[in-house]
Amino acid sequence: MADVFGFDNPVKRRHHNWAKWDVADDELPMTIADMDLPTSPQIVQALYDKVASATYGYEDIPQEYYEAVQGWFTRHHRFTPPLEWMSFATGVIPALSSLIRTLTTVGDNVLMLTPVYNIFFNSAANNGRHPLASPLDYDSASHTYSINWADVEKKMALARTTMMVVCNPHNPSGLVPEPEDLAHIVRLARQYGVIVVSDEVHGDMLWDNTLDYTPILSLPEPLRGNVIELISPSKTFNCAATHACTVLIADPNLRAHAVRGFNNDEIAEPNLTAVPASIAAYRDSDEWYAVMLSYVRANIELVNDTLAREMPLITPVKMAATYLPWLDCTDLFAAHPGSPVSSVSPDYQSTEVEALDRPHTVSDEFTAFIRQTSGLLVNPGGEYFGNGATFIRMAVACPRHQVEDALARLKRSYDLWCEQH
Ligand SMILES: Cc1ncc(COP(=O)(O)O)c(C=O)c1O
Repeated sequence: MADVFGFDNPVKRRHHNWAKWDVADDELPMTIADMDLPTSPQIVQALYDKVASATYGYEDIPQEYYEAVQGWFTRHHRFTPPLEWMSFATGVIPALSSLIRTLTTVGDNVLMLTPVYNIFFNSAANNGRHPLASPLDYDSASHTYSINWADVEKKMALARTTMMVVCNPHNPSGLVPEPEDLAHIVRLARQYGVIVVSDEVHGDMLWDNTLDYTPILSLPEPLRGNVIELISPSKTFNCAATHACTVLIADPNLRAHAVRGFNNDEIAEPNLTAVPASIAAYRDSDEWYAVMLSYVRANIELVNDTLAREMPLITPVKMAATYLPWLDCTDLFAAHPGSPVSSVSPDYQSTEVEALDRPHTVSDEFTAFIRQTSGLLVNPGGEYFGNGATFIRMAVACPRHQVEDALARLKRSYDLWCEQH
């Protein structure tokens, strides 16, 4: 297929103040979840036009912005959220942290399914709440995750549990909850007086054309009252630094309460890029989106095939979504253990986590070894708690040759690890 959008050409990120690329010249970062692919030409044009307007004063969120969000959901997720459910915040995590402050009390439990995006822990812990982990069950034969319902219910039932954050689809496990899973979570939450926040930032990236994820507010009444849905074009369109998140809340009282919190926390006003980039993404970039999906899907297949062929002790988890392959190194560490201290996998699973103070795991030792021996940077699975201590995560929304380079580096380090351990 012709490379219409220039995905095979590296965008210049080294030495350009990108968080992910703040590494030595011979190192290759495959860590932070943004893309090394150019975003859609429509977004670029919208931002040029904005800059050319030479006026950068205070902005409102126009109706056109919310209509663009609505149109995207109608076209891609068979769901047409009413415009009045929507409000704006300057990012998914700023919104989540604000919701935690506004809707829960210091000392409350914020429940989450682990292993999970580590910043959820920070959002709770930095605000004096307890991140409470409910570990996903992992089937090491099929390499798939599922929800441990008995554990979820036990922890929801605790008087101090007032919020549950669901990552839908789930980073890093790639799990896409079924509608019935989400309905069960919401029913339990209603029963125990818990608010459910569904972070759907990865919702547009599913790898099977025949599947879709379930926007949580597409569940029927009465399963909407205690639910908040967070969406953003940031992952799908590689525009995280435009800082835009749409918050959907069906219940008018809950919405008013949440929006007061956003105002109080000063996260309700857009910067000059947020509105034009989001409209151009959601309304005008379907073609780019389709090509990006098939390009990144091929990258994921390349990772899976190469691991199976060349690094059989590392097995990718079966992921239905996200561009963040989650790689099970349990067999590698069983055959070639790390140092005795760090190979002890901490069990955070049933405790209230001191998120910012996690112990060293064998995944940290392995990722440091990879960096040292081949210059490749990947995330240690221990960052995400749950059973992550024997996993690593690699972001692959990048030019194909970069994935090839990453896999060649990983292979070098893998061989050396096997030789030396
Ligand atoms: C699950 C999840 N939520 C939120 C974010 C970040 O969202 P934002 O940049 O809008 O705060 C990420 C980024 O990796 C993520 O993986």
